[in-house]
Amino acid sequence: MPTIRIASETDFQGWRQAARALRKRGVTPEETLWTVDGSSGTVVETLATSIEGAPAFTVPRDFLELANAVILHRSDERFSLLYRLLWRLGLEPALLRSPADQDVRKARHFAEAVALAVRQMTNFAHFRPMSGPPRRAQQTYVAWFEPAHRVTEAVAPFYSRGFADANFAIFTPDTCVHWDMKTLAALPGVDPADAPRADDLEDYWRAYCAQHLGAPPSEGCWRNLPQARLIPQTTAFGEELASAMVGRGSSIPSDRAVRAARRVTRDAPYDGQAPTSLEQVAVGVQMCRRCDLFRDATQGVAGLGPARAKLMLVGEQPGDQEDLAGRPFVGPAGQMLDRALAEAGVTRDLAFVTNAVKHFKHELRGKRRIHKTPSVGEVTACRWWLESERRLVRPRVIVAMGATAALSVFGKPLAIGKLRQQVLQLSDQSQGVVTYHPSYLLRLPDADEKAKVYAHFVEDLKFAWSLAA
Ligand code: URA
Repeated sequence: MPTIRIASETDFQGWRQAARALRKRGVTPEETLWTVDGSSGTVVETLATSIEGAPAFTVPRDFLELANAVILHRSDERFSLLYRLLWRLGLEPALLRSPADQDVRKARHFAEAVALAVRQMTNFAHFRPMSGPPRRAQQTYVAWFEPAHRVTEAVAPFYSRGFADANFAIFTPDTCVHWDMKTLAALPGVDPADAPRADDLEDYWRAYCAQHLGAPPSEGCWRNLPQARLIPQTTAFGEELASAMVGRGSSIPSDRAVRAARRVTRDAPYDGQAPTSLEQVAVGVQMCRRCDLFRDATQGVAGLGPARAKLMLVGEQPGDQEDLAGRPFVGPAGQMLDRALAEAGVTRDLAFVTNAVKHFKHELRGKRRIHKTPSVGEVTACRWWLESERRLVRPRVIVAMGATAALSVFGKPLAIGKLRQQVLQLSDQSQGVVTYHPSYLLRLPDADEKAKVYAHFVEDLKFAWSLAA
């Protein structure tokens, strides 16, 4: 199987060159393995034979735009997903116009998540002035930021325009970008464990310059460093991407919601100013630092559904697929939930579906991300978001699916088996109902037991729906 080695995580040209070569040679997506090896240039290991003479092909512009965004997503799947789409486009030229297609949907979700990360970075990165000239001109501004996806270089030209007469440095775990009023240069990222605190930023910046430049920074200084990669200043990719996604009526939030969420997440970290719209919750969750789960998750996943839903369904936390898609209950547990809702006569689109915890807690086993149950501390930290959703939606009935949801909704552990089919009054005037979590059903090994619990699950959903109606 050819192993395609891409020079860096965001090397779009490397991916494109390899993908063209593979496709010309008729190598199917199933036969390829993509990996990032940090070496310079793309190596298509087993494609030793020449591809000259193979028929030329063109790809739609739409695909290139989509691919440019998708490549910045943190999912390991992105290179193979894009190659699969490229391959399929040869057979189905109208593929990108099939929004229900699984690959197209996934790629669009990835692109949306990347656009959201761009929007967040342009709104939330907080630059601090370093001591130096009293006027803004020629001063240096420094920020530390952890973007949800690898968007730093896409966003950098936006900042170089904003800092036309000043220098800036932005440190991230993926890459560090420096601007010296002439050159935009990228250097390797910083381990988040060494991330400078706001008060240490100046010392950190000075030590960094001393290490890399051996002297105070000056105009054009980053250009000459051998390890620096220059970033073209002309590209407006990040901004274009974010506004294109907003224009398409996607779930990318408006500037207004982003500004409000910034106030909430920065100035009111605990219980102060709560979000006033679901859109603010969706943005705020992305910026949430109430616990450490944001570090390993791809993104925060807020609830989804009508703003005035009568029924709210609460799960535990996003799983692997939800973490990638940015939507609750889209993976195997979501399919089980959909099936049971349909049998119970409940239209999912009429319910507000959310989770107790908004980031995916997991551990890595090889390449697999294995679910881990959130701790009581993490559930408690995230409760603020669920309570915001409850306050804004004001559902008549809240269904807590599983022990973690019950802990968050009721504020104490509850025995699901004993309390199902009962109305439990909640302090916000809504009625609470508990039932099993759909993943629990998926895990039951005994078929008879599974059928029995599934029937209970459907009954419970029916019961809740009858209370809400
Ligand atoms: N399990 C949950 O609790 N929530 C999801 O969104 C997916 C799986």
